Parts: sequence; structure tokens; C-alpha cells
Amino acid sequence: MDSLDLVSPYLFKHKGSNFLVKDKMQPEDLDALQYFEIRSTDVFLISYPKSGTAWMQQILVQIMDAAHPEQAEDVSNRLRVPWLEERSADNPLRERPDPRIFGTHLPPDMLPLGVKAKQIKAVYVWRNPKDVLVSLYHFAHSWVLLETPTSFEDFFQQFLDGKVYMGSWFDHVREYYAVHKQLNIHFVQYENMLKDLRGEVVKLCAFLGKDLMDDTIDHVVKMSTFKSMKTNPNANYKDLVEKGRYLGETMRKGVAGDWKNYFTVAQNERFDEVLKYKMSNFPLPLTWEINQ
Ligand code: A3P
Repeated sequence: MDSLDLVSPYLFKHKGSNFLVKDKMQPEDLDALQYFEIRSTDVFLISYPKSGTAWMQQILVQIMDAAHPEQAEDVSNRLRVPWLEERSADNPLRERPDPRIFGTHLPPDMLPLGVKAKQIKAVYVWRNPKDVLVSLYHFAHSWVLLETPTSFEDFFQQFLDGKVYMGSWFDHVREYYAVHKQLNIHFVQYENMLKDLRGEVVKLCAFLGKDLMDDTIDHVVKMSTFKSMKTNPNANYKDLVEKGRYLGETMRKGVAGDWKNYFTVAQNERFDEVLKYKMSNFPLPLTWEINQ
């Protein structure tokens, strides 16, 4: 513990990202993940925290269930999509049948080497960082492994400084885009899923090489709406609430633009300045407004 490069009593820095002090993963465990054996049929779900990971888990699980019905299981998505950098007793990391799906927040240079070497399919979900900040702010109040923010302003500054769980949003997104040609990666924007979930599911099926019938796609979409997931214990992480590891609502709001209820005008201007500076020359459009 003494050798950890502490960012706060709750976070330590390793290779540019911030990991959880209270988790069981030490720097050497994280490094060992580079040698995690990857199979060519594996699918990776990659995201910065609070970008729609659980949503994409549910979509991927539904697509896989439809494409591989013999493997459909009535268990939680946490078990179906094991978290790479998690070492809890109930993480069945290596014991999944093919095709396996894994989730991770790791930056590209910490991924298992096989992800690139075997060109396995990876889905990267990203979201308006202002909404990510607000979602992470609430998450930090709810998840027992994170420090409860002292104020929104403090947390806001920590987010801009990359002193939050996993580090800088700006770096995570830029680094993934920088290597997108070296990986077999499909970018999905959270707001586009809100706008046209079916359209994004169709694109995902094409990327994953899963040829589903129209009514099956309709079913995937139906099972992946906020309303449906909120009442589905396999999708909504309620088991973590029952285990006392999570103290709040796992399915909070699920909308775009909630940041407007939190940011002051001055904070918004500060955020935009950092966004402009950090994401200069970033080729993807940084626009997230949608009419809901
Ligand atoms: P909010 O806190 O803004 O509501 P992650 O899974 O990466 O931790 O992301 C969590 C965010 O995704 C939360 O955002 C959560 O409500 C939202 N989310 C989860 N499922 C969703 C769905 N089906 N539709 C829209 N948003 C969803």
C-alpha cells in the first residue's frame, strides 16, 4: 500500500489512470492483465466510467443471447460480462463459454495484448463529458469504494484535472481514438443510442457479425430501454445494492443534458475552455445536444 502513488486516500495512479485503493487490484495485478489470454471470439466493451457501460452490457448480452440461444442464461449481466480489472469472489473471469464478453475501463496501453494482436471486436461507448461528470458525481456518493465529494465545485475541478476514478475523460477518449485504426473498434455515442437505439443496435449487429431478424432486433431494443432495465434485476446492478456495495439508485436518470441542472454559467465556460484545449484537433464531432 505504501508504494502506491496516491491521488487521494481512495485513488492511486498507475500508468496515467486512477484506480481504487480499496479494490483488490494492485499495480502488478493490473499489469498482469496484459497477459490475460484472449480468444479470437472474445468481445470487449470499453468505456470511461458513467458513459453507458451497463446499457451496452445489456445490449451486447441480448444480441449474443439472440445469436447464440443455447448459451442464454438467466443471470446478472455482471456475471455475463465479467469486469477485467475486478477481483471479487463472484467474478467468473476465465470461466465463461465462447463467445465471451468482457468489460473494462482500462486505457488502450493497458489492455490485454491479445486485443490488438488478435484483432478481437471491441465496442467503445462514449458520452457528453458534462453528463459523465454529473453521473460520476452521483456515483461517487453511492459507490462505497469512492470518496464522497465535498461539493459539486470540488468534484467539478477534480474531473477537469483528471483526479477522479480512472483519470482524465479527455485522455481516455483521445487515446482510444488515436489507436482506433490499430484495434478492431466500433465507437458508439450514448446520445445516439438515446436518439435512435434501434439504429445503433443494427450497426452493432453488423459490426459483431450477428445477422438477426427484424423482430429479434425489436426485442433487443425493448429489453434495453431505460424503463425495462430499471426493473430487470439482471441488468440494473441491484445485487450490488443488496450486498451493500452501492448505496444509491443504479439506474439514475438516463438522459442527455442533465449537466444543465448542475453547472453554473461560469463552470460551463470553464469546462468548454478545457474541452477546446484538450480536444483540439480531435476529429469526431463534440456535439451532444438532442431534443428529447
Ligand atoms: P445517469 O447517472 O446520467 O442517469 P455506466 O453504466 O457506464 O456506469 O453509466 C451509467 C449511466 O448510464 C447512468 O447515467 C445510467 O442512468 C445510464 N443508463 C443506464 N442504462 C441506460 C439506458 N437503458 N438508457 C439510458 N441511460 C442508461
